Amino acid sequence: MSNIEELKKKFREIFKDDNVRIFHSPGRVNLLGEHTDYNGGYVLPAALNVGTTVCISKRDDKKIVLKATDLDDVVSADIDNLLSYRNIKWGNYQLGVAYELMKAGYKVGGCNMLFDDAVPHGAGLSSSAAIECATGIALISMFNPEREIDRVELALLAQKAENQFVGVNCGIMDQFASIMGKRDNAIFLNCRTLEYQYVPLSLGDYVLVITNTNKKRSLADSKYNERRAECEKGLEFLKKELPYITCLGEITVDIFESIREVIKDPVVEKRVRHVIYEDDRVLKAIEVLSKGNLSEFGKLMIESHISLRDLYEVTGIELDTLFEEALKVKGVLGTRMTGAGFGGCTVSIVHKSAIDDFKRYVGENYRLKTSLTPDFYVMETGEGAREIC
Ligand code: GLA
Repeated sequence: MSNIEELKKKFREIFKDDNVRIFHSPGRVNLLGEHTDYNGGYVLPAALNVGTTVCISKRDDKKIVLKATDLDDVVSADIDNLLSYRNIKWGNYQLGVAYELMKAGYKVGGCNMLFDDAVPHGAGLSSSAAIECATGIALISMFNPEREIDRVELALLAQKAENQFVGVNCGIMDQFASIMGKRDNAIFLNCRTLEYQYVPLSLGDYVLVITNTNKKRSLADSKYNERRAECEKGLEFLKKELPYITCLGEITVDIFESIREVIKDPVVEKRVRHVIYEDDRVLKAIEVLSKGNLSEFGKLMIESHISLRDLYEVTGIELDTLFEEALKVKGVLGTRMTGAGFGGCTVSIVHKSAIDDFKRYVGENYRLKTSLTPDFYVMETGEGAREIC
């Protein structure tokens, strides 16, 4: 469901309330800089024009009542006892945000919320961040009208909800992109300092095509945590030479190459190498994009995928097949996996005249090799979290 009038009608039917406000926060695609955010490195995500839309109205009691357009469950949570809902199957992201907002001194009162999620789940397009950020902006706006919204703080609180309340150890990229997104722009973010800059996406005759492997990401969480731990180990090794460093994002390629022998574990060395070179690629990308050089940007995307495949080892047969088949299509400047990996999506720069060939060729060969059918979306960028009516 994406029509606002239908959504309002549904809200009225369920909650018998006309006094509704509607907020939206988008999913994101990351163009470059993968597995760098939790290492204090650089990322380059863009907000999508699809996301989570939430209708909200106040209640007289102290309950947060949650419902979704595509689920039968109704969650009715007691505001004073939010921690006890940490392990529920659906609703924990929203209640986690309410909990973190209250802990940070925001007012949160009883309310009805109806969620409409348009970001495909488990596709690496940050459906969770979209839910968290839509919840956050709705609750702050409803119950703290006197406060100006600090958007960076909101992104950090949404991340905290996911880390501490839900227990998923993500970095800051997804929430930051969902809150701060801007149509026709990517966001160049330094995850160590949270300094950021918008980078216009002038694609000319090209479009970004997202291809969904439609593979269930079963290993994603455990492998994600394993990679984080390996990076921490790498940092400990490097600290023997550079005791003052606090994260891998502080190390340049030159420094890394001069001291890499200090990393005694070859697997850890590969993980660190990926992070250091990926950061460097993002810096190069900002330079080439500012000159409108899309084909150089495409090459950096390809290098990124190869590094995620061979050094960071988070791709798998499905993502690698999409990658290889995409590169065989004339009119493709670059392609790579996006998000955490182990399934999810690739993002490719495709000439407008080659979109149909791309879908047909990649679709057929992917089906043959994996027995899965991919989905293709021609990507449109969108605005970050906001009230829409
Ligand atoms: C997931 C996490 C992000 C980031 C990416 C990998 O999307 O939520 O914080 O770590 O994986 O770049």
